[in-house]
Amino acid sequence: MINASYPATRLRRTRATGWSRAMHRETVLTPADLIWPLFVTDGSNVEEPVTSLPGVSRWSVDGIAKRAKEAVDLGIPCIALFPNTQPEKRSDDGAEALNPDNLMCRAIKAVRDACGSDIGILTDVALDPYTSHGQDGLLDDRGYVVNDDTVAVLVDQAVNQADAGADIIAPSDMMDGRVKAIRMALEMNRHPTVQIMAYSAKYASAFYGPFRDAVGSGGLLKGDKKSYQMDPANGDEALREIAFDIAEGADSVMVKPGLAYLDVIWRAKQEFHVPVFAYQVSGEYALIEAGAAAGVGDRDALLMEKLVAFKRAGCSGVLTYHAPRAAELLNG
Ligand code: PBG
Repeated sequence: MINASYPATRLRRTRATGWSRAMHRETVLTPADLIWPLFVTDGSNVEEPVTSLPGVSRWSVDGIAKRAKEAVDLGIPCIALFPNTQPEKRSDDGAEALNPDNLMCRAIKAVRDACGSDIGILTDVALDPYTSHGQDGLLDDRGYVVNDDTVAVLVDQAVNQADAGADIIAPSDMMDGRVKAIRMALEMNRHPTVQIMAYSAKYASAFYGPFRDAVGSGGLLKGDKKSYQMDPANGDEALREIAFDIAEGADSVMVKPGLAYLDVIWRAKQEFHVPVFAYQVSGEYALIEAGAAAGVGDRDALLMEKLVAFKRAGCSGVLTYHAPRAAELLNG
């Protein structure tokens, strides 16, 4: 700092007018920073509002294609798909994840038909929307989620999604070594250009509740996911997770949830200089909506302030259920 003393320096000078604030703004949020998570349900012409996520619905495949078109029109570059698998198709081993005609694959194809290559399709790799126990992997007799056997299934799930046309495979399961195994399988199955966005630092968070309602796994889940998702108290460990995933072939990494982990985002960006994304998760969205409804502040102002924080912390983009509203606001 050179000679930063009053009155030579008055930091309020550049803040005094709108044009000057615009000129000095350090970070800018654009619709291209947004990834829109969408929930898929069975049937046609179906919209099912998710009660714990006011303003968010599950859509049948035809509706998903329409939302994808809206995303293109709003300048949102990518959508993330999550299926609500019918209860009778859930099983201990989550085999429906490997069905080339499952809800996820049908949604991928419908979006591709509707939008061509105008939009990126990101797909979640983990077994929880397909298992009868709601865990992300396979269980042994003690109920422990086993690592290597789970990875073998995740690899097939990822190839199934890539075969259907997914652009970005996003493993959210937190098994060790899965990024490397998925990368090798994508290469060997003629998908060299399919990206991997690794949910690298994914915490065992209390903020996932509404998501589990949306994909129908909440009521099924016994216990917690602490034997694979991270302890919210740990930051150094997040950097080790991220280092591993980059070394194993991740094209980008993710920190999840978002706002409570801005320090992890910042450290990851400073340390590795790779594209870092944040997932502003369902509970974060629901808190903003509940706050706005309770009169805490203006909904649009609240959501935009939180989204710009991710850019300031170093994110390349944010997965957020507020994506369509934020894009509308940004487009004026
Ligand atoms: C599944 C998965 C979860 C989320 C994204 N993928 C939930 C979980 O791990 O239990 C949460 C997203 C959200 O809360 O919005 N592996």
